[in-house]
Amino acid sequence: MPDRYAVIGHPIAHSKSPLIHGLFAQATGQDMTYEAIDGGAEPGGFNAALDAFRAAGGRGLNVTLPFKLQALAAASEASEDARLAGAANALRLDPGGRIEAQNFDGIGLVRDIEHNLSLPLAGKRVLLLGAGGATRGALLPLARAGVARIAIANRTPAKAEALARELAPRMGAVALVGGPLSEVAGSGAFDLVINATSASLSGETPAVPASAFAPGALAYDMVYGKGLTPFLKLAQAAGVAQVADGVGMLVEQAAEAFAWWRGVRPDTRAVREQLTVPLV
Ligand code: ATR
Repeated sequence: MPDRYAVIGHPIAHSKSPLIHGLFAQATGQDMTYEAIDGGAEPGGFNAALDAFRAAGGRGLNVTLPFKLQALAAASEASEDARLAGAANALRLDPGGRIEAQNFDGIGLVRDIEHNLSLPLAGKRVLLLGAGGATRGALLPLARAGVARIAIANRTPAKAEALARELAPRMGAVALVGGPLSEVAGSGAFDLVINATSASLSGETPAVPASAFAPGALAYDMVYGKGLTPFLKLAQAAGVAQVADGVGMLVEQAAEAFAWWRGVRPDTRAVREQLTVPLV
């Protein structure tokens, strides 16, 4: 019997995870299946689906919206990244009943930027737009990669300030500040500007001033499959030559989960190329 894995979310039909993990399994010769589970909109739907999947012998789950917080709550053990993100995007289901939680989104982001986009992060100045779960999950992995400074800018400034205050003690030597975009972006230029807001999904962008992009900066939008988002267009208009969407982050976080489950890290290039939508 092949080992069973799945992604759970609601809705789930749009998920690329079955395709990605199917390709990884094929490339690495792993005897496994990977399906999509809709956890439904009812309260308790996630836990019922998790229990049913475990009872059927399921070995691991990727977790997507809106269940990332519930996945962390259901776990018996959680990594530091999952605890600080306040959310889990991967679970490992031990046949003995233990549930381990991880959050690979931030590691996926860092790997994509350093390995695929060839921007070493050590010493870099980073501007993070947004103060929700996506930003929270990126902070610790960026700090581990050795960035010098992170500024969090948010539409609701108090959320950015609170997040910076909460996480600052965990960030080692990284200078972490939070506040309104007008103030934070005016404090200097950044080598990397990451859009971790959900603004792209509604065709909007935070109004980042051109002066916030340092010469040679990378502009990164965490959404994927939308082509050139309003944020990436704004960056290009400001003279930024290198822009990227989040497809590499998606594939790299999947590869981390796959390696955690199966003990073998798949090569991501072919899958990234298959999923890439041209940025035009
Ligand atoms: P996620 O978990 O994906 O980060 P979230 O927790 O809902 O999602 O956070 C969404 C983030 O996008 C927030 O920082 C939000 O700003 P507010 O805190 O002010 O709500 C930001 N956001 C959403 N739409 C935006 C827009 N049109 N312009 C700027 N920021 C936006």
